[in-house]
Amino acid sequence: NGIVHHHLTDSTNTRARELARDGAPEGTLVVAESQSAGRGRKGRSWLARPGEGLLFSLVLRPDMDPSRAALITLMTAVSVAEALIRETGIDARIKWPNDILVGGRKLAGILTEMSMELDAVDYVITGLGLNVNTPTEAFSPDIRDIATSVMAESSAPFSRVALLQAILSSFETHYHTLATQGPESILTRWKELSDIVGRRVRVSMMREEIEGRVTDIDADGVLLVTTDAGEALRILSGDVTYLD
Ligand code: BTN
Repeated sequence: NGIVHHHLTDSTNTRARELARDGAPEGTLVVAESQSAGRGRKGRSWLARPGEGLLFSLVLRPDMDPSRAALITLMTAVSVAEALIRETGIDARIKWPNDILVGGRKLAGILTEMSMELDAVDYVITGLGLNVNTPTEAFSPDIRDIATSVMAESSAPFSRVALLQAILSSFETHYHTLATQGPESILTRWKELSDIVGRRVRVSMMREEIEGRVTDIDADGVLLVTTDAGEALRILSGDVTYLD
């Protein structure tokens, strides 16, 4: 499978999408030292200084119903958290749907993009931005309290290649499990690594904001919340703030 390495590109997700559109096989990996237009969820940007972060996107062609695509994001989050715990000893946690936190600060984000053909998944791009050797001073003042890096948490620089290998190997195991055994074990692992179930949250969505308690994550990776008014909601996408 192909590995494409860029010193500078606009966004590895955009590059991977173009390759996938041109027929690149599953497993094609795009890595960059830096991005001029790194993208986050909801039109936000992802900033990383050259050589400090791990920035990559993977082309996948899962044989799954598009309604279950959220599982790819959850599976990526599990793989990243497990690799971080194993390689660095950092107490990495998952925040729904796709953030990796340590001590409440964000260490990594995942951007999953799907393309469909007729009613089936054509390809999925899963992109990871992980702050590895970013010194705390490099974070702009407005995010310094909410962002962190592997180096800041373990007070030593870390090999980005070693982390990439660990993440990809964990990913491969979980992707295989998802395809052959279904999502149960990934959901179980996700719940262990996340602390969202049972908590009071505020969820900001496109048009509304709700408060309530998280009761579970369902088999499609959808967040189940019971609002303070007693209404049960299925939430596909949104920004979560913990209230307790
Ligand atoms: C988020 O937290 O909102 C997701 C951030 C995802 C950033 C990564 S960096 C590599 C890949 N290429 C992009 O343009 N975005 C993802």
